[in-house]
This record gives sequence, structure tokens and C-alpha cells, in this order.
Amino acid sequence: MPRTFRPPRRARRVLGRVLVVVLALAGLSAGLLGFAWTTAAVDTADDVDFTRPLPIPPLADSTVDDDGRRVFDLRLQSGRTDFGRGGPAADTWGINGDYLGPTLRAERGEQVAVQVTNDVGETTTLHWHGMHLPAVMDGGPQQTVGPGETWEPTWRIDQPAATLWYHPHLHGETAPHVYRGLAGLFLLDDPGNTPSSLPNQYGVDDLPVIVQDKAFTDDGQLDDEAPIFSPTGFLGDTIVVNGTVGPYAEVTSERVRLRLLNGSNARIYNFGLVGSDGEERGMHLVGTDGGLLSAPAAIDRVMLSPGERAEVVVSMTPGETMTLCSFPADLGADFWNERFSGGDDTVDVLELRAADDLDPSPQLPDRLAPAPDLRANDAMVTRSFRLGGTNINGRDMDMNRIDEVVRVGDTEVWEARNAGGTPHNFHVHGVQFQVIDVDGDPPPPQLSGWKDTVYVAPDSTVRLIMRFDAYPDPDNPFMFHCHLLRHEDQGMMGQFLVVERGHDVQPGDALDNHGDHQ
Ligand code: C2O
Ligand code: CU
Repeated sequence: MPRTFRPPRRARRVLGRVLVVVLALAGLSAGLLGFAWTTAAVDTADDVDFTRPLPIPPLADSTVDDDGRRVFDLRLQSGRTDFGRGGPAADTWGINGDYLGPTLRAERGEQVAVQVTNDVGETTTLHWHGMHLPAVMDGGPQQTVGPGETWEPTWRIDQPAATLWYHPHLHGETAPHVYRGLAGLFLLDDPGNTPSSLPNQYGVDDLPVIVQDKAFTDDGQLDDEAPIFSPTGFLGDTIVVNGTVGPYAEVTSERVRLRLLNGSNARIYNFGLVGSDGEERGMHLVGTDGGLLSAPAAIDRVMLSPGERAEVVVSMTPGETMTLCSFPADLGADFWNERFSGGDDTVDVLELRAADDLDPSPQLPDRLAPAPDLRANDAMVTRSFRLGGTNINGRDMDMNRIDEVVRVGDTEVWEARNAGGTPHNFHVHGVQFQVIDVDGDPPPPQLSGWKDTVYVAPDSTVRLIMRFDAYPDPDNPFMFHCHLLRHEDQGMMGQFLVVERGHDVQPGDALDNHGDHQ
């Protein structure tokens, strides 16, 4: 009978030791992994004390100059901010203040001009997110403003009433510049086309709600280090609204409109309301990124990825309290990416406190605005954008390369496909688009209106339709990109030109030496 092989004794001892070490290492990494897994989920539900009144960013002053232009002054500056968590104030950046900026407001048809002065001591830019305007006024990575410089873009407001916003867009530095505090709202009004029965008194029954997540170092400074394993970038454990921790808003009328902006670097919120009895409450969605919906939609939740906005109307009864929360979101990722992208997190955001006597509010109107009317059949061009790794269509952002060339006047279908396992979203400058479908299904209410940023779940395809109806310029590109700011900074961005028909610039051309200039 052949003997079963047994290694010599010494070898057995060595093997045994190796095995012990391997098991110990495996145990250690399993332990670390378990620790990372458990600590990855943030849950602040019922943990937040709402003790600070919600600050309302002031409406920016403006003057009308001799040319009839509405002129705003914005100064980017450094400062110190007490977010309200106790302890020392943090070093921050702000616009005309220490943190965030004033709310700009203008009417459709007005010519606006903004004097942007950069006093933060570093080059940056200021981009008008969601605005339909000439590319050279857009404030993207091409329109840098050096330290001490003033940049003065001007354009005519030419789009429906909407909640837009502004923030820096310096290539490679957008995440830190926004995180330090450079951002603000830009509200557009369209009085002839907006039902007056929507709550519309800024700061009274029409509240700006800029939601951001932060982390703090032991000495009270902003900490922007991304958690271990986060595939999307920075995720903080402290929520601030309009720059304040634990905010409450006093509601004095039966209905209040919240203009929600996800101004965070990477966190994706799934907003909903909870009453003081612990029961969930519904709300009405009235607007998305680029304007009002055609009709109010009753919803329980609204998910916003970074850069997206939603306008909701909340109805309250006298004396009641409700909390705006963010619930675990279905990011459509595997359990690993879901967890480490914050998809399992629950956070309290803002408390709404209704007064004992509420001013009556009109009923919500049945019709809000004309429905978006772009039809897939009208599209002459279809383009595909594959979001993978941290690039688009396999190419990293190159500020000197033109990736797409659009003919002015064309209606186009853009297909954004997330080919990887990581959450992404997709934002296009210079236009508002309509969502045709998501993996072939018609869009839900929150994707049924005008949009400029849309979530694209892992392994899914979102088809968009948009019309490039103005502002041809062969020299100045617009951007398209993932608005998860670390991905954007890592190069998940491309550039497109809008040109006159017949202009001979081609995709792949270098920006500085393409075709005939007119
Ligand atoms: Cu809000 Cu290209 O950005
Ligand atoms: Cu991304």
C-alpha cells in the first residue's frame, strides 16, 4: 500500500506557522473590513438637535446700469464660519460673506451682468449651472479668474422660471473649492408664465434649502478626506443646510415651498418627510432642475444626486412639526458600492415647525407650466456617452480637445450609459434636457420636467433629448461631465462646441487650431 505523502516534520512546522500568519492576516483584514463596513453607514435619524434657525442666504443687491443691464457684484473671499456645532470656527470661503453666497434673482428677458472678483488668493472660476447662455459667459474651466482679477460675464435670461445655482469649475479643483463654501442659488422668474398661487415669498413661504455634508477635524476645521473604500469621493457625517448644522424653519403659512439643492460633493440624498408621530408624510413636487413641472406630482421621496434641484410644496397643519430626512437611496449598485457610496445612510436634514396660527395658502394649481415638448423623432443626431472608471468614452478630460461638435438648431438624443459598478450622474452645460427613458422605461415624475443633471445608476442607460437653439461659437466649448465632484476633477468630463451649420470643426480637433474662424 502506498503511504500517503506527509511532508517532513520541519516543513510541517513552517507550513503551520505560515498558516497561522495567513489566518491572522485574514482575520485582521476581515476585522478591518467589518469595521469599515459598520462605520461606513451614517445614521443621524433622531440624533440631530434642531436648535438653530435656518439662515436664509440674502438676495443679492443689484443695480440697473445705463444699458439697462441688471448688474450684480460678487466677491469670492476667505472667512471663518461657525457652523453651529460648538467649538472653534472653521476656515471657509464664501461670496460676499464667509460661507456660500447670496441668492441672485432675475427675470426672463433681462440682460444681467455679474462682476466676479476673486479674492481667495487662488485661481478659480464661477459657473452658472443650468443657465442657457453663450459658452464664453458660462464660467466653465476655460474662463479662469486669477487672484485679484475681476471677470464680468453678461447674458440675457432666456429660459423658464427655475432654481439654478452657481459654483466654481476650475479643472481639477472643483471639489475643494465647492467644499470650502463657494456656491449659491440663482433664481429665475418668469412672471407671465408662473401661477401666482405657488408660494413665492422668498425666505417666508419659499425657502432655499442648500444641503451639504461635512466632516470636521478635532480642531474644528473642514475635513475633506474621503472615507476609505468610497468609490464616489467625500462623504461627511454632518449635514449642513445653508451653512448651518441642526436647522429649523418656522412655517407661518399652510403651504411652504422648499427649493432643494444638492450642493454636496458626492452624497446622494433621498429626501422625504417624517411627522412628529414618526409617520411619513407626502409632498408635492412642482419643479425640477430647469423649471416647473406641467402639473404638481404627489410624491413621498425625491432623490437628488450632486448638482440636482427639486422644488417641493409641503402642506402643514397648525402647530405640527415635520423633519426633512434623507433615507437610504436605491442607487442601483451592488451591496458594496451601495454601502460605500452612502446609499445605506439615513440623515436628518431640517425641521419644519408650523406656527399655531397659519396664514391661509391658495390651493396648488392644476397646471404649472407647459410640458417639455421635445420628441425623439425630431432628433437628427444621437450621441453615446459611456461613463466608466473616471472617464467618458474612454477619454479623460483634455481642455485642448473638442470631443463633440453640435450644429446650432439641432435636436439631439444623448445616451448616457453607466458601464461600471460605481454611481455617476451626467450634467450638460448650456441647455436643459428632457429624459426620454431610463433603461427603456418612461421617466418617473421627478425626471419628467426640464433637467440639466441626471443620476445614471450602475449598468443602466438614460436617454436624453435636447435642443441647441442658440449661441454658436467655434472657439468656446461647453462641458458635459459627471457631477460627483471627485470624478469630475479626475477627468470625467468632455467638451462640446455648438457651431453654425457648415463649420468644419471636427470632434478630436484641438481647441486652439481647428478650422476656419468666422
Ligand atoms: Cu454644476 Cu459643470 O457644473
Ligand atoms: Cu461619477
